[in-house]
Amino acid sequence: MACTCVVGLQWGDEAKGKIVDLLTEQHDLVVRFNGGANAGHTVVADGRTYKLSLLPTGVLRPRLCSVIANGVVVHPPRFLEEVSALRDAGIAVGNNLVLSDHAHCIFPYHLEEERLSEQGPDHAIGTTGRGIGPCYQDKVGRVCGVRIAELLHPQHLRERLRVIVPRKNRWLKCLGDNAQVFDADVLCDQYLGYAEQMRPFIANTVRLLHEEASKGKRILFESAQGSLLDVDHGTYPFVTSSNSSTAGVWSGSGIPARWLDRVIGVIKAYSTRVGKGPFPTELNDGQDGVGERIRKTGREYGTVTGRPRRCGWFDTVATRYTAALSGTTELAVMLLDVLSEFRELAICTAYEMDGNRLDYFPADAFLLERCRPVYETIPGWQADISGARRLADLPAAARRYVERVGEILGLPVSIVSVGPDRAQTIIC
Ligand code: GDP
Ligand code: IMO
Ligand code: MG
Repeated sequence: MACTCVVGLQWGDEAKGKIVDLLTEQHDLVVRFNGGANAGHTVVADGRTYKLSLLPTGVLRPRLCSVIANGVVVHPPRFLEEVSALRDAGIAVGNNLVLSDHAHCIFPYHLEEERLSEQGPDHAIGTTGRGIGPCYQDKVGRVCGVRIAELLHPQHLRERLRVIVPRKNRWLKCLGDNAQVFDADVLCDQYLGYAEQMRPFIANTVRLLHEEASKGKRILFESAQGSLLDVDHGTYPFVTSSNSSTAGVWSGSGIPARWLDRVIGVIKAYSTRVGKGPFPTELNDGQDGVGERIRKTGREYGTVTGRPRRCGWFDTVATRYTAALSGTTELAVMLLDVLSEFRELAICTAYEMDGNRLDYFPADAFLLERCRPVYETIPGWQADISGARRLADLPAAARRYVERVGEILGLPVSIVSVGPDRAQTIIC
């Protein structure tokens, strides 16, 4: 079996959506295996801009079957809103979209729990507020987790919610005096209504994926978030609550690890991060500084929350680690055009921690806080590259920058992106 995975090697927003969209031509199914509506993937095609959060980017191409697999957490009203927004935009969404009966269900008490735990300055992670963490907590905790399949059994759902909701209400009141509490029967009626609308999409996706693979269909996995936000391997605790590296593919979809033979590691030509947590190459260098200029030129504001993204130079210590972690076979270097204005660029090649040189990534927020970047400088090109369509169209300095990144990471660069549009892509 030959499967491909598109994975982000930084802290998310590497432009995975654009790469998935490009690769849809070579695949038959696109699978989301982790996260939920915390993702924000923007695709610009044929002069139109599409923003996807919970649904796989593949849904923009109705020829493909798009699968929300078991590893995803789903907020039913969001699911229905996204389907209806796409239909309003003229995209056909029908039996080309399949939702796993084993995906977990987000309820309003998850959103409320997250609001309450994020409101104090001390323990906030800077989450997207979509109920992701509390829902995964319930999934792993087993007592209060509800799978999508359970929404299709009214009596069962009512009995479960009558146990879960009072428990949740007690917990919410402990978290804050201003906590909102919920009524089990009201929630149940509301969710049964959603379930009726979702019923046509719900299926056993493990079975579907295995059947399709056995017919020779080509599967593309689309990760949400970036590998540095992976709950096991990222900058814990400032991470998301799922495995956003390729480690999440097998558990999140039911497809065996050995079927994955192509892993495209998507990297921005610089670094960004939204939310809290250590970021060694972050540039807080004022209004006219490089950080702010990258933010402006790259329009670095979160798709989901609109928050300004923190910006900095490219970090090869972090990405060498995530490339290895995800079994990356090739790189896609994105947003190269954003660096065009700078006379000189910097690439972080090592860290210094407490006077010692480190060339590996300490994937632990408390150690990473103490790391200072060591840079190598490289000349900029100061020319508009957004019209380049072949490597030869790029100025020598831009080619050198891309080559140098590939050299340090020890991987071939197969795609370079010079603008948001599908056409603004160089296949190497
Ligand atoms: P994702 O979450 O990894 O899919 O990435 P996002 O969609 O959140 O963020 C990437 C942003 O960069 C989107 O607004 C894209 O339209 C845009 N984009 C993608 N590739 C390029 C590029 O090569 N140059 C520029 N300037 N923008 C790009
Ligand atoms: P895409 O798929 C960037 C960040 C949040 C926060 C942390 C935890 O567009 O790359 P969560 O709501 O998941 O519990 O928040 O993770 N985060 C992302 N940052 N891109 C994303 O998705 C993200 N999804 C979550 O900002 O720091
Ligand atoms: Mg994004």
